[in-house]
Amino acid sequence: MQNPVFDYDLILKYDKPGPRYTSYPTAPNFRKDFGGADFRKAILDSQRTAPLPPLSLYLHIPFCAAGCWFCGCNVCHTREREKGWPYLDAVRREVDALRGTIDAGRRVEQMHWGGGTPTFLTPEMIRQYFHALRDPFPFEPGAEISIEVDPRECSDEHLHCLRELGFNRISMGVQDLNPVVQKAIHRIQPQETTAHVADHARALGFESVNIDLVYGLPHQTVDDFRSTVDAVAGLDPDRVAVFNFAYLPERIRIQRAIKAETLPPPIEKLKILEMVIERLCAAGYVFIGMDHFAKPADELTQALRDRTLTRNFQGYTTRAGCDLIGVGASSISQLHRCYAQNEKDADRYQERTLGGGWATVVGMTLSDDDLLRRDLITRLMCHFVVYKGEIEAQYGLVWDERFKKEMEGLKPLEADGLVELHPDRLVVTPIGRLMVRNIAMVFDAWLEKGPQTFSRTV
Ligand SMILES: C[S@@+](CC[C@H](N)C(=O)[O-])C[C@H]1O[C@@H](n2cnc3c(N)ncnc32)[C@H](O)[C@@H]1O
Ligand code: SF4
Repeated sequence: MQNPVFDYDLILKYDKPGPRYTSYPTAPNFRKDFGGADFRKAILDSQRTAPLPPLSLYLHIPFCAAGCWFCGCNVCHTREREKGWPYLDAVRREVDALRGTIDAGRRVEQMHWGGGTPTFLTPEMIRQYFHALRDPFPFEPGAEISIEVDPRECSDEHLHCLRELGFNRISMGVQDLNPVVQKAIHRIQPQETTAHVADHARALGFESVNIDLVYGLPHQTVDDFRSTVDAVAGLDPDRVAVFNFAYLPERIRIQRAIKAETLPPPIEKLKILEMVIERLCAAGYVFIGMDHFAKPADELTQALRDRTLTRNFQGYTTRAGCDLIGVGASSISQLHRCYAQNEKDADRYQERTLGGGWATVVGMTLSDDDLLRRDLITRLMCHFVVYKGEIEAQYGLVWDERFKKEMEGLKPLEADGLVELHPDRLVVTPIGRLMVRNIAMVFDAWLEKGPQTFSRTV
């Protein structure tokens, strides 16, 4: 696939708040009258027809020892490691409830721990959490078991423990190696700390090492961030995620410590992204989707080639066929026809699990129209092409009749060169690739239903 072409004027023209489409409908549309009983029923209903999809488990550990000012994740700042124990009890209660509902024959193909910082937990806690999830479910041999670690909170003992338990993928937060930026985001992380964890993880046999960077952070410049990108590529990770800084100070209190005037202006931000793509591709990575880079032999690159790449709450992923079961505060589950999200606050999450295990507070059942549009949006965001005939055959519809309004809506984007409207397919052009969220928004039937806060597309 051709890399994006940067047309600065056009990109700025289309710079407006928009969803990142890690789900469709997006989380702000989840209903408050959807609770644990609805989620339980959705699981049971989804199991009435064979074959039952395999499972992907997600565990959210919300704790972080210190708050990074840029962070948009659902976190609970604390230095009390002991908080990991009562949270483990709640996780056990939730897993019990799920175990009593999920068909015992369904196998786990993938498990991911995210946060917050899962390595905030001591190795002994990690062992017990692992068994709380691993023991009740049958895992596929060779299941992908991954974890997010903060290199500042990840001792050699942690790494040994994770490897011994069977974790085979590790993802590390770095964000930016420049001390000026690190100070401005309240995250001091020496390069040696990152390098040590990356090297050690590899020596211990983790199959895949991922590094997260963020562009658009305070005081970032093209030249300084180039040094970060080159140093990170020098660590030879299998994947690099370079996220667009989602700055929402009205909604995320901790981000108010970052002043808007310290952020790179939109043009500089675009130049940074252009440089990132150029450097990482020159270093042998393939640009995947909106924000991921992977080596050519990586599963993610393979999935891009085969058009099996998909998107869920964790971003781009290869396991399109799994039902996602989220455990822990704020976790989101995704079945074919249902989203269910747990209570976000860690204390309230624990209380909620007391009455039988379910901590669901919002969610929704998807209509046929939602399923169709989710599929379209996923294809656009992941494959950058939609074949009308495939959709017509799969959903029993006539494209030009069903999407008359949307095709009209795409005309100005076509005129601007973002998308090609062929008789048999829609193709996101190399110019349109950076504005794929804007293209997807044309197919979003929920946008007009109410005010929602999203980060900007640039
Ligand atoms: C849960 S954290 C990673 C693990 C660990 N807590 C750490 O920071 O090293 C997930 C990633 O989300 C990204 N992230 C967090 N807040 C963000 C924001 N406001 N905008 C864009 N990316 C963000 C960062 O790259 C971060 O590494
Ligand atoms: S970036 Fe990671 S370590 Fe920093 S506050 Fe967010 S989750 Fe915690």
